[in-house]
Amino acid sequence: MHFAFDRAERGNMCGIVAYIGKKDATPILINGLKRLLYRGYDSFGFAVMNEKNNIDYFKKPGRLDEEEKNLSKMGLEGATGISQSRWATHGEPNQVNAHPHVDCREEIALVHNGIIENYATLKAWLKEHGHKFRSDTDTEVIAHLIEEHNNGDLLKAVQKALSLVEGTYGLGIISKHEPNTLIGARKGSPLAVGVVKNGEYILASDPAAIIEHTKKVIYLDDGEVVKLTRKGMHITNLENKKVQKQAQEIQWDLEQIEKTGFDHFMLKEIFEQPQTIENAIRGRALINENRIQLGGVSDWLDFLTNVDRVVFLACGTSWHAGLIGEYLFEHIAGIPSEVEYASEFRYKSVPIDTRTAYFVISQSGETADTLESLRKIKQGGAKVFGIVNVVGSSITRETDAGVYLHAGPEIGVASTKAFTSQVTVLSQLAILLGVRRGKAVPKEVRSRIDALVKIPLQVQEILDQNEKIKQLAQKYYKFNNFLYLGRGFNFPTALEGALKLKEISYIHAEGYPAAEMKHGPIALIDENMPVVVVATDTEDVIYQKVVSNIEEVKARSGNIIAIATEGNESIKDLVTEVIYVPKTNGYLTPLLNVIPLQLLAYHIAVIRGCDVDKPRNLAKAVSVE
Ligand code: M6R
Repeated sequence: MHFAFDRAERGNMCGIVAYIGKKDATPILINGLKRLLYRGYDSFGFAVMNEKNNIDYFKKPGRLDEEEKNLSKMGLEGATGISQSRWATHGEPNQVNAHPHVDCREEIALVHNGIIENYATLKAWLKEHGHKFRSDTDTEVIAHLIEEHNNGDLLKAVQKALSLVEGTYGLGIISKHEPNTLIGARKGSPLAVGVVKNGEYILASDPAAIIEHTKKVIYLDDGEVVKLTRKGMHITNLENKKVQKQAQEIQWDLEQIEKTGFDHFMLKEIFEQPQTIENAIRGRALINENRIQLGGVSDWLDFLTNVDRVVFLACGTSWHAGLIGEYLFEHIAGIPSEVEYASEFRYKSVPIDTRTAYFVISQSGETADTLESLRKIKQGGAKVFGIVNVVGSSITRETDAGVYLHAGPEIGVASTKAFTSQVTVLSQLAILLGVRRGKAVPKEVRSRIDALVKIPLQVQEILDQNEKIKQLAQKYYKFNNFLYLGRGFNFPTALEGALKLKEISYIHAEGYPAAEMKHGPIALIDENMPVVVVATDTEDVIYQKVVSNIEEVKARSGNIIAIATEGNESIKDLVTEVIYVPKTNGYLTPLLNVIPLQLLAYHIAVIRGCDVDKPRNLAKAVSVE
């Protein structure tokens, strides 16, 4: 069983494609879904209206592009169909939870992208009314709701069902009772109708699945429902009021669409961070109640509050997030904490302690060393918690409980948005446990939560400086060595900045706690060694010490790129370049400071002509030793 997670999340992480016309729907759906795999790929499924006007469907866990053989055996034939490639949010990625979902009689089938927040209440109500559920998903309630309200008019039944639903959806729906109809609906999750010609349409969560058939699209707005038949199209709102919409011409080519206009997935993912951090906070940082709620660990709060210490285990970027976790847990929650490289821990003769809470942190949930460490801890009889992005991944299945990141698929090999989501989750865990351990007064909690909810907008302010950072990259891309310095919460930020640069640009870069410089690395400094210094936290005692380190570099002709807090004018006289970030509470500074470091690494790598999304020798999930 995979671990529980906070149900109040939203997600737009699946790809949906549907077709109505005169052609065989299945190949169109398969090709369309292949174009959307970058959105989610843990399972997939199809439903097609056959010539006897019954619905045939096929669904399966796994990646669609790795299942070509199975696809040819599906035996789905018909000219109306729906399909989905899933990125799980509710229920693990197995066959039953894959889309399409059907009603009790298998007469209505639908695919969904989004999250139904009130699904538990609706499910209980529907069960009382005799509906039988098959899956653990939130989506299935919609099929049963439509069945419940189906009085011979599918469009009206859909409108009624959706008026009862809270949350987000992009939907494709077919029904045996109206075999010549395809219905789409949208709220919070994108949905577009591709107009091939009058009476032939492709409905998709993303124009990438449409563009090979037509460039003419109608983007649905929230609250709109479209009824597509071989006679034409009819758009209404949920109150059945007709809506007039104009078709638009798609301007982008396919590759641009998949990357939503960005040149690389990495850049797209860097720019998604205001949203992904928001996803990691929503329904968790309850500002009006001045508290943090993390559904995934709610049954374990007594245990977590009373442990003697915490150990974080991870690799790579996730290990850097763990290091920040150590600072956060010690500073905010007063819990002695340690961080281990999972690759070291798994072979260490280390006593497993049942009074320790072990946290494994992983974007993919499949990293071999992290997984083996988790198994070793479990064998030792202790509890392990996960902080993971990929729903239903191996780590989530083997941990006792955990918190999901809900950052959506991270395609670029260099981890960016997963890192900031990990730090966001760790921050919230630290606040939650700090309160329970009596380490924080309500005023302090308020100022921390206030600062946290402002982070997405502040990240956007930094992203708005992208052009400036690109120019900086032009100036520095020829150097072959970089040093990154930071202290306290931002020592791991320096490590992460250095890792980003080295893995995508192949420039040698090292991160150091700033004060360690004088114990060795200072010997390297000259005009050929740019030094990136994270120098925010001006009110912290450490700041003056970082300034001293800057002076030391300057005295040796080093070029200094400083990350500093807005308003800090005096730093300009000390350094070669300054990138300003907005002011925030000290514990959150890594979330802001890492953004310019990600952008700097990205632009330097692009200028050097590197394959940013697939750097040499690296894999996205290191599932072998
Ligand atoms: O999926 P995980 O978070 O467990 O992956 C851990 C590392 O392999 C990963 O962070 C790696 O270091 C990235 N390439 C960093 O950008």
